[in-house]
Amino acid sequence: MPIVEMTRAAAHAADSKAAVANAPESSSETADFYAEVMAGLTLPVKTLPCKYFYDERGSQLFDEICELDEYYPTRTEASIMERHAKEMAALLGPDCRLVEYGSGSSTKTRILLDSAPDLAAYVPVDISRVHLHKTAEGLRRRYPQLEILPVCADYTTPFALPEPARSASRTVAYFPGSTIGNFHPRQAQFFLAQIAALCGEGGGLLIGVDLKKDPDVLHAAYNDARGVTAAFNLNVLDRINQELRGEFDLDSFAHHAFYNEELGRIEMHLVSRKDQTVGICEGAVTFSAGETIHTECSYKYSREDFASLAESAGFQVSRFWTDPSKLFSVQYLTVAPVKE
Ligand SMILES: C[S@@+](CC[C@H](N)C(=O)[O-])C[C@H]1O[C@@H](n2cnc3c(N)ncnc32)[C@H](O)[C@@H]1O
Repeated sequence: MPIVEMTRAAAHAADSKAAVANAPESSSETADFYAEVMAGLTLPVKTLPCKYFYDERGSQLFDEICELDEYYPTRTEASIMERHAKEMAALLGPDCRLVEYGSGSSTKTRILLDSAPDLAAYVPVDISRVHLHKTAEGLRRRYPQLEILPVCADYTTPFALPEPARSASRTVAYFPGSTIGNFHPRQAQFFLAQIAALCGEGGGLLIGVDLKKDPDVLHAAYNDARGVTAAFNLNVLDRINQELRGEFDLDSFAHHAFYNEELGRIEMHLVSRKDQTVGICEGAVTFSAGETIHTECSYKYSREDFASLAESAGFQVSRFWTDPSKLFSVQYLTVAPVKE
């Protein structure tokens, strides 16, 4: 979605907050969820923010996606991490506060933690509360010497970072999984600039970035034969049913994912199989047959395009690691010195 549309959606969400009285619970998280759902579904091109995929079930389904034969990103990124873990850990240095954005099950993080025994603390940040805390418990058992400070937050909004008991010499962010691809390029620039500001001089960002490749490989990765990605996509409607008294019939929507070559991104949609009106709390949304809800983008980058994006956000690329087939990359970015 271009930035103009994004701004329109944000304004629309603010308007919809006026309808918060309709929201089923008084919690502000539920009210925000309702406002954003109604804002997105009443735009000319219907959208839902991809962060709402991740309730407990969504996080489990994402983990299943990571195990699929067709889903090359996870195993490829993990293989890059395994091959270069020592070098990556050396870049973090001693007494580093490692902050992971969108930590999920922290699976690839373990490869890094195994090679970096002298961190000041590990701070996993994720929106999926139950999954985050379960994962943190598992990590505490595996790394009893390491201080683990989970933060449940929406990382696109300001949140407080915990201070480790042992004082940290520097902060390095970790953002694997090519989750950066879920941001439109202008949003990605803004988001990376915020990370650069957080890490400050001497800090860095270790980031997983999916690379441009044969569209057939991409198509298979987002349209797996077992239908796990379809279930993950549809889960957002189920979540609306559970948390916002939605009335979506999941069989009346179909998963649709394709590579948009012009924009260099995978687009995931949910397509209405018929004309229908769906109640959500006190509201209702009308769909015509074939109309879609755009649920996620996953931008793919060339090495050069990502380097320019990083530079525009105040970083420089210090290391670039890839796999033999150049499917995926892990990059270490350092905060560029301020020009006099
Ligand atoms: C694509 S998954 C990646 C998970 C893991 N880092 C990996 O590489 O396998 C995205 C993760 O980011 C989290 N997430 C998505 N949007 C978020 C947001 N706005 N704020 C915080 N966490 C978010 C999700 O809950 C999920 O765990």
